Amino acid sequence: MNSSVTQLQSQSALRDRLDRPMRDLRISVIDRCNYRCPYCMPAEIYGESYRFLPRAHWLTPGEIRRLAGLFVGLGVNKLRITGGEPLLRRDLDEIVAGLAGLEGVEDLALTTNGTRLAERAAELREAGLKRITVSLDSLDEAVCRTMNGGRGDVATVLEGIDAARAAGFEPIKVNAMVQRGINDRTVVDLIEHFRGTGIIVRFIEYMDVGTLNGWQAGEVVSSKVLLDRIAARWPLEALESNYRGEVAKRYAFTDGQGEIGFISSVSEPFCGDCHRSRLSAEGTLYTCLFANRGTDLREPLRAGVSDADLVGLLQNVWRNRADRYSELRGEKITREQRVEMYRMGG
Ligand code: GTP
Ligand code: 5AD
Ligand code: SF4
Ligand code: SF4
Repeated sequence: MNSSVTQLQSQSALRDRLDRPMRDLRISVIDRCNYRCPYCMPAEIYGESYRFLPRAHWLTPGEIRRLAGLFVGLGVNKLRITGGEPLLRRDLDEIVAGLAGLEGVEDLALTTNGTRLAERAAELREAGLKRITVSLDSLDEAVCRTMNGGRGDVATVLEGIDAARAAGFEPIKVNAMVQRGINDRTVVDLIEHFRGTGIIVRFIEYMDVGTLNGWQAGEVVSSKVLLDRIAARWPLEALESNYRGEVAKRYAFTDGQGEIGFISSVSEPFCGDCHRSRLSAEGTLYTCLFANRGTDLREPLRAGVSDADLVGLLQNVWRNRADRYSELRGEKITREQRVEMYRMGG
């Protein structure tokens, strides 16, 4: 083992101002998406002429691997690749292979909208990806189209999920964001479809992330309401978390037909155990999903900075971290400056 690795590992006691370690790194690899979900990238704003990041600004697979390796040295053991839509990046297999080869990475997962999964699931598995989570808000075609800006069809996403299964991904998770009056009445159908298949469906409370979705508290359906509705149909029992800081609360069907989860960042914030850092496609580091500013790592990276100096920068950022936005939601906090979720990575 070389001395810089030893030196980095000895720094794994890194804590932020609220005594939280850094365990996860979520890496957005692209700011583009083939969907136009109105709650994320409304089509009126992200039209033909919208200028996304130039490709030259995307971190390269080598840069991503180098940075991720430094994060791992500081205590990160879980990596998740996000976007935008990560499968729009042609060199995704190279990114995955680079990350899979890092020592100390226990979990390497990908979040995708599933539209391009069928053709690439096997290749990603081969490259060393361990898990896949597919976003699918509803099985109802019309509801889905409302929620993705009229861009895709449900069958293609289901084919992507099947391909991921055939490629050996296990477990596969399906994330559905729930918005009152839009898809809440289709929640039970979603469970009915996946129950007994081994696929874990998780419901996410609609959040006031970014600046564009015009979020209103009345549009949130709390997990408690959903849980009661689902349990009335299929009895459920609470399960222990898989690991400290897991965002989803897990429940098993008492008839043995699998489990579901709830991500309740509005009704039951989980900032106290938030161990996540986020790296955008252009190499900006964020310490909270609701951040309005981040720290540029690309510029020093491309200027030839040493690993030791980069590590110093990361430590400094994490030690100064005091974010707990979801716990403060009730208090008036300005929204204008917030970074959009598709840029920062979900
Ligand atoms: P597993 O690794 O399978 O446990 O998944 P995960 O907990 O990393 O969850 P995933 O990446 O599937 O996240 C699901 C959703 O939860 C995200 O898309 C966000 O909407 C929300 N979420 C994840 N992390 C955070 C967070 O730190 N803060 C808030 N407010 N929401 C989060
Ligand atoms: N609130 C909750 N979840 C959201 N997502 C995107 N925007 C929001 C929001 N405002 C979800 C997507 C996808 C995941 C990446 O993040 O639906 O499942
Ligand atoms: Fe794309 Fe995901 Fe945003 Fe929808 S929520 S526009 S799928 S990045
Ligand atoms: Fe973490 Fe920020 Fe989400 Fe709280 S709001 S759980 S600090 S990312």
